[in-house]
Amino acid sequence: MTQLIDQFGRSIDYVRLSVTDRCDLRCSYCMPKQFRDFHEPEDWLSFDEIERVIATFTRLGTRRVRMTGGEPLVRKNLTQLAARLSALPQLEDLSLSTNATRMAQHAQELKDAGISRINASLDSLDPIKFKQLTGGKLEKVLEGLMAAKQAGFKPIKINMVLMKNINDNEVENMVDFCIEHGFTLRFIETMPVGDMGRKASENYIDLQLIKTRLAKRFDLIPGVMPGGGPARYLKVADTDINIGFITPMSQHFCATCNRVRLSVDGTIYTCLGQEHHFELRPLLRAGISDHELEQTIRTAINLKPEKHEFNENPEKVLRFMSYTGG
Ligand code: GTP
Ligand code: 5AD
Ligand code: SF4
Repeated sequence: MTQLIDQFGRSIDYVRLSVTDRCDLRCSYCMPKQFRDFHEPEDWLSFDEIERVIATFTRLGTRRVRMTGGEPLVRKNLTQLAARLSALPQLEDLSLSTNATRMAQHAQELKDAGISRINASLDSLDPIKFKQLTGGKLEKVLEGLMAAKQAGFKPIKINMVLMKNINDNEVENMVDFCIEHGFTLRFIETMPVGDMGRKASENYIDLQLIKTRLAKRFDLIPGVMPGGGPARYLKVADTDINIGFITPMSQHFCATCNRVRLSVDGTIYTCLGQEHHFELRPLLRAGISDHELEQTIRTAINLKPEKHEFNENPEKVLRFMSYTGG
């Protein structure tokens, strides 16, 4: 079987595909409120170009693709792209990370197009705080989540980025909410990606503290969940609910990293925590052959750095998180 192996022996089989850098929210840790400096449509990879690049990745061993943004549902006709990608014979897992604001309108068609599971951001269950944190309406997101459940996505994972004195008082409420609805809950440590990520990191919480706090109220036993990401899970005993902990800061997982990112303008980012990148778009538009594209992707993978330096060098990543979708 063909595999992409980087210079540290890691097998790269997961592509995070950002289909737009735009978003209808402005989460405080991600993008500035007034931000408008987005890529122009002529720089976006077309669906044909995306399909070609992802098909090439699958020939090289990629088995999972996650569509991200910005907010992926802001890109028109995303369902059509999903259907084209899910038809790629070697792809086993097509998923979506979303803020769920537009999920109510699109859930069923996305499910029918072959997306099997979604991860959705939800940092607060308090409508006023939600508005302050994201600029959006909680009600829309909850409607979106219920529509996703109705459409049969499984699992539905809720991503909660934890910030001290901002939403850490909601940890237990969020567990109760997820138990009630059958969602998997993941807590995430803030990462200093872009100026907004750095600012939010002033309220950083080590998730070990949250684990200890939750163990006082819930009986937590070892858990597992399908997925290819870095979360480590505990299960709430006597429920079907798993709680995931994503700890890039307190216990990083770079040694087992299995992914690269493709941004909307066709640039491969080989690490979330570094600026190393490789531009495919000029080559695609200059008529590169399939064989050359394969070789180019191999070259890019070879440049994947060993690890992030969020702790040693938090100023390093200049781009906003919305650019590569987490
Ligand atoms: P699955 O496990 O396949 O469900 O996906 P995931 O958890 O990797 O995807 P999701 O988009 O929900 O990401 C959850 C959080 O993990 C986000 O905050 C991401 O930024 C973070 N994350 C995902 N991949 C990486 C990575 O390679 N490095 C770091 N540091 N963080 C990551
Ligand atoms: N630190 C940690 N997680 C972040 N996300 C966005 N920005 C940051 C950050 N600075 C998360 C979002 C989303 C996921 C894809 O990435 O909450 O759920
Ligand atoms: Fe939009 Fe996601 Fe960034 Fe929030 S984290 S502003 S939902 S791209």
